[in-house]
Amino acid sequence: MKKEFEEWVDNHVGNQDSKTAIVTGANTGIGFYTALGLAKKGANVILAGRSEEKLQHAISSILEDLPAARVSMAIVDLASLQSVRDFAGQFLKDHRQLDLLVLNAGVMMPPAATTEEGFELQFGVNYLAHFLLTQLLLPVMRSTPNARVVTVSSIAHRAGVIDFDNLRLEKPFDTRKLYYQSKLANIIFALELARREVGQEQPVMSVACHPGITASDLQRHLDPEIIRKMNFMETWQGSLPTLLAATKTDVQPGDYYGPDGEGEFMGWPAPGVIEERALDTELGKLLWEKSMVYSGLQGNVQY
Ligand SMILES: NC(=O)c1ccc[n+]([C@@H]2O[C@H](COP(=O)([O-])OP(=O)(O)OC[C@H]3O[C@@H](n4cnc5c(N)ncnc54)[C@H](OP(=O)(O)O)[C@@H]3O)[C@@H](O)[C@H]2O)c1
Repeated sequence: MKKEFEEWVDNHVGNQDSKTAIVTGANTGIGFYTALGLAKKGANVILAGRSEEKLQHAISSILEDLPAARVSMAIVDLASLQSVRDFAGQFLKDHRQLDLLVLNAGVMMPPAATTEEGFELQFGVNYLAHFLLTQLLLPVMRSTPNARVVTVSSIAHRAGVIDFDNLRLEKPFDTRKLYYQSKLANIIFALELARREVGQEQPVMSVACHPGITASDLQRHLDPEIIRKMNFMETWQGSLPTLLAATKTDVQPGDYYGPDGEGEFMGWPAPGVIEERALDTELGKLLWEKSMVYSGLQGNVQY
């Protein structure tokens, strides 16, 4: 197995000419390098983010490198489920095909804050908005042959616990725990989606990944002193597990990729270790069913 994955770099990405991809949080960090890697191989890439200025900047840097790249932007604020609905609605009006949805955007350990609908920010942005986006785009993905959803989780998922009684800041605030929770929710979702696609006429493949410890803006809320003492992988390398999960032809539903070094902190992409809790199928079912309600897709929720 080691040999197959050794030093898997973005040059290994196959031709993507026929593909349309959405990458959330693509204006910077891992999302940016994922978008760049896909565009390099010909994909039509929609960079989704909340800041037009930042997205424009990202698109200009891709075009500087690759003048013929097919890249465009879409505005979505994942801290608002209405914004997710607006974005998905517009996409569905404009497109008949979606080959790849990369659920990458994220926020880590911010001060206490909630989304427009009152969910704790990390649960809302990292997980719930992506849950809703996927649900809204699943029909077009199911009608696109070999479509994939790639969910970016984290090693931090291993320390996560889903506390259904603390999704709206009901308990004393612990931003670290809430980040872990959101990243556990990401991987539980990816695995549950993989299970739920079995038996579909044209199943969408759900795959998860994580970037180890990668230099990016994600650390913006951490103490600079702590950051100074940490070792980070370069951002382009941190995007490789995502690019592999998104493009490698023999990837299987429910696979999980991360760096191959000690503790999965750094290295080249390879299969990663999933925490036992994330494999709990009952929890997967429960989180999915509750998320249908939280996201307003089922029931009578008024925000
Ligand atoms: N870097 C690491 O070591 C590491 C480790 C494990 C997992 N991850 C995961 O990797 C993913 C990418 O992170 P990164 O390291 O590339 O961080 P990053 O450089 O901070 O990028 C995060 C992206 O998410 C976007 N975003 C944040 N809040 C948003 C919102 N409300 N609406 C729309 N977009 C929003 C950001 O947009 P703005 O620029 O506008 O804020 C940015 O484009 C995240 O899911 C993160 O949890 C990263």
